Amino acid sequence: MEKILVLDFGGQYNQLIARRVRDHRVYAEILPYTTPIETIKDNGYKGIIFTGGPNSVFDMSSPHYTKDILNLGVPILGICYGCQLIAWMGDGEVKTAPVSEYGKIEFTADKKSKLFNNIDEKSIVWMSHTDYIATPPQGFEIIGTTDDCPCAAMQNTTKSIYAVQFHPEVTHSQFGSQILYNFLYEICECAGDWVMDNFIDNTVAKLKEEIGNKKVILGLSGGVDSSVAAGLLSRAVGKQLTCVFVDQGLMRKDEGDFVEKTFTSLFDMNFVRVNCGDLFLSKLKGVIDPEEKRKIIGTEFFNVFWNEIRNQNELGYFAQGTIYPDCIESGKGDADVIKTHHNRVKTPDDVEFLGIVEPLCDLFKDEVRKVGEKLGIPKELVWRQPFPGPGLGVRIIGEVTADKIKILQEADWVLRDEMSKNGYEKNLAQFFCVLPDVKTVGVMGDHRTYDHLIAIRAVTTDDFMTADWAKIPYDILAKVSNRITNEVEHINRVVYDITSKPPGTVEWE
Ligand code: XMP
Repeated sequence: MEKILVLDFGGQYNQLIARRVRDHRVYAEILPYTTPIETIKDNGYKGIIFTGGPNSVFDMSSPHYTKDILNLGVPILGICYGCQLIAWMGDGEVKTAPVSEYGKIEFTADKKSKLFNNIDEKSIVWMSHTDYIATPPQGFEIIGTTDDCPCAAMQNTTKSIYAVQFHPEVTHSQFGSQILYNFLYEICECAGDWVMDNFIDNTVAKLKEEIGNKKVILGLSGGVDSSVAAGLLSRAVGKQLTCVFVDQGLMRKDEGDFVEKTFTSLFDMNFVRVNCGDLFLSKLKGVIDPEEKRKIIGTEFFNVFWNEIRNQNELGYFAQGTIYPDCIESGKGDADVIKTHHNRVKTPDDVEFLGIVEPLCDLFKDEVRKVGEKLGIPKELVWRQPFPGPGLGVRIIGEVTADKIKILQEADWVLRDEMSKNGYEKNLAQFFCVLPDVKTVGVMGDHRTYDHLIAIRAVTTDDFMTADWAKIPYDILAKVSNRITNEVEHINRVVYDITSKPPGTVEWE
C-alpha cells in the first residue's frame, strides 16, 4: 500500500492534513519530527508533508530536521512552518514578517506549477504566520505571492520539493483540496489505493492470521468504535469472538436492547450482556458530587467488566476499538501538547491475555464510520452522537435515582424522535436533555404542579474543544417543549441552554 508521511512539527492541523490526504484515497500516517531518517527511508513513502508549527525556524530550540531529508529523492510538500523550514534548511532567508498574515488572504498562483493545476490564478487561502521567507533558497523559484508575502509558495522541480506558506488542508483555502490532490497525483504519482473495501479485506485477513484459532474478547460499549471493531472481528473469527456488554442502566432509552439485538442478529459471535443497573444505583445512592459520581461509575464499570472476563474459561486476545488519533505520538514540545484522549484500557495484573488486538488503530473517526456502514452496522450506531462513558449519570444533576433516569430517558427520547422526524439533527454535533436537580411551579388544567425542569442542550462544533450553542429555530423548540411536557410525566417546564463552550462545557455534569 502506498503511503504519505505527515512529518509533525507541532502544528494544530496535522491530523487534518492526514485526513485530507486520505480523503484523496491515499493512506497518510503522522510521525513526530524526532523520527530518525533511517526509519523514514525504510518506510518507502511516496511523499512527505512537513506540517505547520507554532515556532520560528531561526530559534534553535524549535523543531528541526536533518537536511538530508531534502536529498532522499522523495517528493516533499512544506506547509506554513514546514515551508519556512525548507527555506531555512536550504540557506534561504527567513525572518519576522513586517506584516503578519492571519485569516483569509488573496493569493496569486503561478499557473505553470504542477502544484497549481486546475486552480484559479487568484484565490483565497488561509494564512497564519508571523515569519516569512524573504529570500527563497538556491534552486527554488517563487510560484505564489500575496500582497504582504513575496514568497507565499516556492518549488524546486528538480528535487520535487514544493512549499506553501498557507494551509491547504483548511477548508477556508479555496483550492486547498485541489492543491493536495495535485501534490499526491501529479507530483508523488500516487495511484489512490486507500479505499475502505480494501481496508476491510486486508484487516480481516490480518486478524485471521494474528488470532489464529484462539479466542478474542472485546468490551462493547454501544459506541461507534467498539461496534465497528466488533463487526470486523466477527467477520474475521466469528464465534471465537466474545463481546462483553456492560449495561449499567445509564444508557438512553432502549439503547441496551438495541445494541444486544443488533449484535446478536447481525453478527456471528458470542454476546454477553451484563445487566447491573441495580448495582450502580445502590453505589450511587446519596452521592451528589459530580466527580465522585464519575469515579464510582468508572470503578464499578471496570469491576463488573473484569469480573465477567475472569469468568471466561479461555481468554486469548484482548481487542480494543482504539482509533488512530489515540495512537499518534505528538510532534509538539511537551509544554504545547494538547493531549489526545488515550483510550487504551489497562488490563489488571491477574488477567493475562496473549496480546492486544486493535483493528481500528489506523483509522480516523470518519473512516471508522465508513467501515461500519460497509459492514452493515445500523446507522443509529454508526452515526451515533458522542455519549459520555458515565452515561446519563453526568446528565442527572445531583443524586441519580431510578425515577430520574426514567424521566430523563423519556424526555431525551422525545427530543431525539422530534429531531429525527424534522431532519434538524443533521445540523447538530450533539444534542440531548439534562435533568437538573430543580423543581418549579407550574399549572396543568386547574391544578398547580410542582415538578421537574428539563434542559435541552444542543451544540455545533468540529472538535468539541470549543462549541457554539445551536440556533435551533423557535418553531422546532416549541414543538419539542410541547411534546416533552405533554408526553413525559413529571416535567412541567423546558428550558434551552444558550451557553457556548467556553465558558460552559457541553455536558452539565
Ligand atoms: P465537555 O462536557 O467536556 O464534553 O465539554 C466534550 C465532549 O466529550 C463528551 N464527554 C465524554 N465522553 N467519556 C466520554 O467518552 C466521558 O467521560 C465524557 N465526558 C464528556 C461530551 O459528551 C462531549 O461530546
